[in-house]
Amino acid sequence: FNVPKAVNEPVKSYAPGSTERETVANAYKQMWNSQVEVPIYIGNEEIKTGDTKTMSAPHDHQHVVGIYHQANRELVEKAIASALEARAKWASLSWEHRASIFLKAAELLAGPYRAKINAATMIAQSKTIHQAEIDAACELIDFLRYNVEFMTQIYKDQPKSDSSMWNRVEYRPLEGFVYAITPFNFTAISGNLPSSAALMGNVVVWKPAATQVYSANVIMQVFKEAGLPNGVINMITGDSGMISDVILSNPHLAGVHFTGSTGVFNDIWKTIGQNIASYKTYPRIVGETGGKDFIIAHPSANAKQVATGISRGAFEFQGQKCSAASRVYLPKSLWADVKSFLEADLQSMKMGSPEDMSNFITAVISEASFDKLARYIDQAKNDSDAEVVIGGNYDKSKGYFIEPTVILTTNPKYATMETELFGPVVTIYVYEDAQWQEALKLVDETSEYALTGAVFSKCRYAIEEATVALQNAAGNFYINDKPTGAVVGMQPFGGARGSGTNDKAGSAQNLLRWASVRTIKETF
Ligand code: SER
Repeated sequence: FNVPKAVNEPVKSYAPGSTERETVANAYKQMWNSQVEVPIYIGNEEIKTGDTKTMSAPHDHQHVVGIYHQANRELVEKAIASALEARAKWASLSWEHRASIFLKAAELLAGPYRAKINAATMIAQSKTIHQAEIDAACELIDFLRYNVEFMTQIYKDQPKSDSSMWNRVEYRPLEGFVYAITPFNFTAISGNLPSSAALMGNVVVWKPAATQVYSANVIMQVFKEAGLPNGVINMITGDSGMISDVILSNPHLAGVHFTGSTGVFNDIWKTIGQNIASYKTYPRIVGETGGKDFIIAHPSANAKQVATGISRGAFEFQGQKCSAASRVYLPKSLWADVKSFLEADLQSMKMGSPEDMSNFITAVISEASFDKLARYIDQAKNDSDAEVVIGGNYDKSKGYFIEPTVILTTNPKYATMETELFGPVVTIYVYEDAQWQEALKLVDETSEYALTGAVFSKCRYAIEEATVALQNAAGNFYINDKPTGAVVGMQPFGGARGSGTNDKAGSAQNLLRWASVRTIKETF
């Protein structure tokens, strides 16, 4: 198992005056001023159905950057047929050749495609260059490189044998095809979900989110240029309900690799349950869904560190991360200091278009998301048990801009302490210093989710108490750090409860879900 050692792609700084800044600015300008037409990728075909939807920029919603073509039922069937046709050849290709394709894709993203994937993510998902670089370039490159290493770890794992018998296991691809459903908020996740299953020898039908098709198209071009054979990953766009309806009722569905909302994931389980007798094999269902991620500070915590954890954890990426901090529990003795640090921090965060690379916050993804956030902010302005203490302004005249907003509530079960909002809004509940144990209990009980969470404390006993009390409340638990920014190869990522199946993106455990193991015993 001789593979190149996986290394994390260094994050470029895009400092003013740097060549990398100029290169991405030029790519942005060039793409902004041209129109892309995204086809449906099935086998060796790029299909234009004529049934199209426009793609625009959330920070300038009247600015159209292209169209994508939508599949009808027949084309969804065709995508499945194309995957199944490619299956035998792909599954029998040796792992080195599969690995080589995805390692080449990583190098294309690290080099010639870096500016393009970043600019695409800045334009259609409204990420700043720094957000795009961490996500679309580095994290996706890391997934592609590390998955190869994780695959070999799996293959190496063999049972014991002795002189009279030889036991071995083969990590076969699943018998059928995998359905990858990917979200708008991470270009890296969008590239990882289809490619991780394909790396393990599976064939895939991939449906990116409508608001991410623009950068998904670049990923598809990278996979093709890296030499991915036709039919291994088929990318289709169109009506989600119809597409899922066709795919989930296909007898050859062997797995679902999902990141998205809890509600949609629940519907997928239900549909698969209803169809269960019709499948050739039980489909593997792997999903990462929502979060209502917490920060809890102990009275011993450093107020500035807590404030930085809140502002970075809640507002980076416009809060559109399933890992974003969105409910905070602070002891009374720290609140005044945390508040003034937060005010200063938020004042320095500039909001605007990603084209101006000094902006820290840009627009949220869509009008629906904007309206939902505005509704909850207005509600907090009116409710007697809540108040907006920082921010609270919003404006959708040009782009979907929501100011970073801090809500303070006296009700630990207040709506925004429980409901996932997926935007730059955080809610704080202040507890009495003596009620640390009760506060831990509140953290555990308040949310149906269990994705990420953080404890801030200088007291080691308190850190241990939180680690034990919150052992089921977060799949990724941070001590004295914001609850976001998991790095592939360092912090395998995922959560349980309403947050998903906890099959850790960026881990051998995740890849194992895409293998069906055959055990062979040979007697001498
Ligand atoms: N992996 C990201 C983070 O940790 C979220 O998807 O923030």
